[in-house]
Amino acid sequence: MKTVLLTGASSGIGLAVGLRLSEDGYDVYGIGRTFDESLTYPVNFHQFSCDITDTKQLNATLQEIRTQIGTPSPDILIHSAGIGLYGLQESLQTEDLQMLLRTNLEAPILITTEFLGFMKQRKSGHIIFLSSVTAKKSNTYGCAYGATKAGLLSFANSLFDEARKNNIKVTTLLPDMTQTNLYRNADFTADETACLFPDDIADTISYILSCGDHLNITELTIQPQKHRIRKK
Ligand SMILES: NC(=O)c1ccc[n+]([C@@H]2O[C@H](COP(=O)([O-])OP(=O)(O)OC[C@H]3O[C@@H](n4cnc5c(N)ncnc54)[C@H](OP(=O)(O)O)[C@@H]3O)[C@@H](O)[C@H]2O)c1
Repeated sequence: MKTVLLTGASSGIGLAVGLRLSEDGYDVYGIGRTFDESLTYPVNFHQFSCDITDTKQLNATLQEIRTQIGTPSPDILIHSAGIGLYGLQESLQTEDLQMLLRTNLEAPILITTEFLGFMKQRKSGHIIFLSSVTAKKSNTYGCAYGATKAGLLSFANSLFDEARKNNIKVTTLLPDMTQTNLYRNADFTADETACLFPDDIADTISYILSCGDHLNITELTIQPQKHRIRKK
C-alpha cells in the first residue's frame, strides 16, 4: 500500500484529499491542528495533531510518522496546510504575517527537505504543493498571501528540475476559489453557485497520482466555469 503524508488534513481541501486517497487504497498520514472527532475516518487515514510552524513539534511528528510507516519517507507528500490573510498590507499585524509565511512557505519547504534526500536515494517519490491562481496574478488585499503561493510555485518548479533525474515527480496545483474555511477572516466568501469544491481538488489529485511513471504534471490551474464571490 503506497503511503501519503498529507498536511492540512483536518479541513477543506486536505480533508477531502485524505478521504479520497484512503478510498483509492493509499495509507494516509494526515497532519492538522484540530481534527473533527465527530467524523468517522477510514482505518487507513491516520491523524496527527501538530502545529507545523512549531519546528520541534513538527520534527517529533515526522519522526513518529516515519516509525509508523517503517521507512524514512512516505511515497507521496502533499502540502495542503495553509492560511489566508487579507487586508491592506499596512493594516496587517507582524505576528499574523509571520504565521502566514511560516505556514504557507517555510513549513512546506522544511518538510520537503526532511524527506527529499531519501526519496532521491530511493529514486521514487511524488511531491504535490497546493499553490493558488494568486501565484500568477496581482493580489490587492492579499499581497503577502499571493507572495507565499508564488514562492511555493517557484520552489516546486526548481525542485522538479533538480530532482527529476532521481525519478521524483513534483506537481503544483493552482486552484481558484474553493469553498472552504480559508476565507474565515475575510470580508468575502465563495459563492457556492460559482466556485470549486474540495472534492474537485481531491478528484484532480487522485487523477494525477494515477498517471504513468513516464510523465509528470508539473503545474495545473483549476478554475470554476463561473466565478463569483459574495460580500459577507
Ligand atoms: N480555498 C481556496 O479558495 C483555495 C484556493 C487556492 C489554494 N488554496 C490552498 O489550499 C490549501 C488548503 O486550504 P483550504 O482552502 O482547504 O483551507 P482550510 O479549510 O482552512 O484548511 C487549511 C488546513 O491547513 C491546516 N493548518 C493551517 N495552519 C496550520 C498549522 N500551523 N499547523 C498545522 N496545520 C495547519 C488547517 O488545520 P487546522 O484547521 O486543524 O488548524 C487545515 O487542515 C491552502 O494551502 C490554501 O492556500 C485554497
